[in-house]
Amino acid sequence: MSESLILDVRNVTKRYDSLEVLKGITLGLKKGETKVVIGPSGSGKSTLLRCINHLTTPDSGEIYLEVKKYETPTSTPCERAWALFSRTSTCSRT
Ligand SMILES: Nc1ncnc2c1ncn2[C@@H]1O[C@H](COP(=O)(O)OP(=O)(O)OP(=O)(O)O)[C@@H](O)[C@H]1O
Ligand SMILES: [Mg+2]
Repeated sequence: MSESLILDVRNVTKRYDSLEVLKGITLGLKKGETKVVIGPSGSGKSTLLRCINHLTTPDSGEIYLEVKKYETPTSTPCERAWALFSRTSTCSRT
């Protein structure tokens, strides 16, 4: 992961059966930076975001969020969502 990037998406691909949705997506985000994902309906915006927040598993590529490289998940989507939320929020589990 590049030193200044908090999000580093490298060559991510995802397909659903014969439908190739993400065809090698690469993007980086620095702290404080805003980027907007735009595209027609069905172009894969939500799929990309779901890969980044770990609700969908990419077929290939690498995603680094902060300093953690996310591998193929062994936990449930709910557990992964909580893990992400709890690291990015000031709330604590009660
Ligand atoms: N779980 C899934 N199983 C099969 N196909 C899927 C699945 N999720 C998304 N797709 C397909 O992948 C393509 C991209 O969908 P996605 O929801 O990422 O598009 P989008 O850009 O977010 O669209 P919208 O602007 O309508 O929200 C679509 O053709 C969609 O039907
Ligand atoms: Mg969408």
